[in-house]
Amino acid sequence: MECDNMTQIFAHRGASGIHPENTMKAFKEAYKAGCDGIELDVQRTKDGVLVVIHDETVNRTTNGKGMVGKLTYKEIRSLNAGYNKRKWFTHDKVPTLDEVFEWLKGNNLLCNVELKTDKVKYPGLEEDVLQKIAQYSLSDRMILSSFNLQTLMRLHELGTSIPKAAIYSKKGVNPSLLAQTTNASAIHANHRVMTPALMESCQRMNIQVRLYTLNQPAKLKEWMEAGLAGVITDYPDRAFKVRKEL
Ligand code: G3P
Ligand code: CA
Repeated sequence: MECDNMTQIFAHRGASGIHPENTMKAFKEAYKAGCDGIELDVQRTKDGVLVVIHDETVNRTTNGKGMVGKLTYKEIRSLNAGYNKRKWFTHDKVPTLDEVFEWLKGNNLLCNVELKTDKVKYPGLEEDVLQKIAQYSLSDRMILSSFNLQTLMRLHELGTSIPKAAIYSKKGVNPSLLAQTTNASAIHANHRVMTPALMESCQRMNIQVRLYTLNQPAKLKEWMEAGLAGVITDYPDRAFKVRKEL
């Protein structure tokens, strides 16, 4: 990792521009690319296993069908996560959060865990994720994020010291107010709705701004030069190259 004032690079669902999203292959590629951290999405199976998958169904990213929360871990594990709308033809599994954390223990990366509670409710997911982080003693490398304000407020109620980030993608949102309301120390905004002035208003209040999903080298350069705290990108290799050449 490089000096503190550099824009940190997080691989969005792993290096998902190069490998199937949210797979161990994508996370390992992100590490190889030299990024600072990975971003991943967490949901829960019918039998209570925390799995790393973006959508509330397995339809888009695997060769199966159905809601994550209505399938057992065994059923999800039997699917191919390298079958993504004919984009990929690889053989990959949907990882458990345990599997990723076990790997993270030996690899010095930050990890942004997004709790996917915005479309489907998983009662107690906040506690489950905190328990898993504690089990692997990874709290000092974690960032917890969600689109769901109630999830962020629940994490606050639970008294965690792990930094929290509020995610948003709609124009017209006041990011510093959103962070304050949810007791988040950071904002993860869709890059299309962020402006330098909004970023600066957050910075004045000590709120970190990270943008997703920044993939274009020119945009990466522009935001890095403007003093962005972090980028969440599908192409950590590109971001790393841009940062090196600043
Ligand atoms: O955390 C930023 C980003 O991951 C949120 O959007 O849809 O890719 O999970 P999404
Ligand atoms: Ca995400």
